Amino acid sequence: MDLFSPITFRNLTLKNRIVLSPMQQYSAQNGIPGNWHLVHLGSRAVGGAGLIITECTAVSPEGLATLSDVGIWNEEQKNAWKTIVDFVHEQDSKIGIQLWHAGGKGSLKHPNEGMKPLSLEEGGWVVKTCSATELNGVLSQELTIAEIDELKIKFVDAARRAVEAGFDTIEIHAGHGYLFHQFYSSVINKRQDEYGGTFENRIRLLVETIREIRKAIPEGMPLLVRISAVDYIDTADAWTLEDSVALSKILKENGVDFITASGGGFTNVSRDKVFPGYQVPFATAIKVQTGIATGAVGMITDAKQANEIIADGKADLVVIAREHLRDPYFAIHSAKELEMGIEVPWQYKRAFN
Ligand SMILES: Cc1cc2nc3c(=O)[nH]c(=O)nc-3n(C[C@H](O)[C@H](O)[C@H](O)COP(=O)(O)O)c2cc1C
Repeated sequence: MDLFSPITFRNLTLKNRIVLSPMQQYSAQNGIPGNWHLVHLGSRAVGGAGLIITECTAVSPEGLATLSDVGIWNEEQKNAWKTIVDFVHEQDSKIGIQLWHAGGKGSLKHPNEGMKPLSLEEGGWVVKTCSATELNGVLSQELTIAEIDELKIKFVDAARRAVEAGFDTIEIHAGHGYLFHQFYSSVINKRQDEYGGTFENRIRLLVETIREIRKAIPEGMPLLVRISAVDYIDTADAWTLEDSVALSKILKENGVDFITASGGGFTNVSRDKVFPGYQVPFATAIKVQTGIATGAVGMITDAKQANEIIADGKADLVVIAREHLRDPYFAIHSAKELEMGIEVPWQYKRAFN
């Protein structure tokens, strides 16, 4: 087994183990992916990555973090995604969409304007999550049960649109301090009803959403979830790796095929906790203790390191973000360095003989 061994999830076979990690580009208008997204995602497909995953894509306007994020809550957005999906397929790569709701981390200005709270007068919106809280300086309100039920429907509608747009797989973003993570971590979730309190109650929204999506998408389409394996917070109410293992078991029983084990989202992670491959042990623990396939993410930046993670069985996929920004051809360059075979686009073959 190595970095260039194919892998199959349900009816989807990836030609190698290299994944373009989701990265927000803050470059959309009205949630519609445009030329930037086509080139950003398309060049990593040209560069050889086996699976491209879109940046977090909102299931409703209230699910955005900023007004420059992408969405898939209407037909215009769906059709724009289809152009990108078709291009990635022409490159013999596969593409998944990361479905997302920011919950309490919404209504923010563009990063170039410091991601400060966006007021209602400036086009911002009322943000809601599990409990009344404050994140990034934005006050949020508690969702009612009726609103929670609507959220599940929005995820299912978005998943249906993603299938219609031709995506090969769907990843639910349940990490990084966004809606699902806000629910499952007691750091934020202070609800008193069936969506708060115990572990079972806090994971309920995610599990119920997964069940509904699984029913709505084809049996042969894999379903992926990204979680924050830990909160990186040293308090008794923080989410732990043990919690993540327990959650992953339940997700697997409910038809999830693959977990990417990321971390954090409520606070800045202290520098001493971030080093090459720092989150690989999370992917390994979840894989070994539950049997579900996992992806390792976080400071995986070179071919040998990536190959070792796969060859040593520490994870099934390597999910690479910033190195892909520096080098869209990470997969092609890795194959050359490791002296392993990869197909380059025929248009570029004269440069690789
Ligand atoms: C510009 C940028 C945008 C990101 N946006 C997303 C996102 O939309 N969804 C997500 O799950 N993670 C997002 N992340 C996190 C990355 O996917 C990844 O988990 C993180 O950067 C660590 O991996 P790396 O060390 O390979 O960059 C983003 C990271 C960066 C640098």
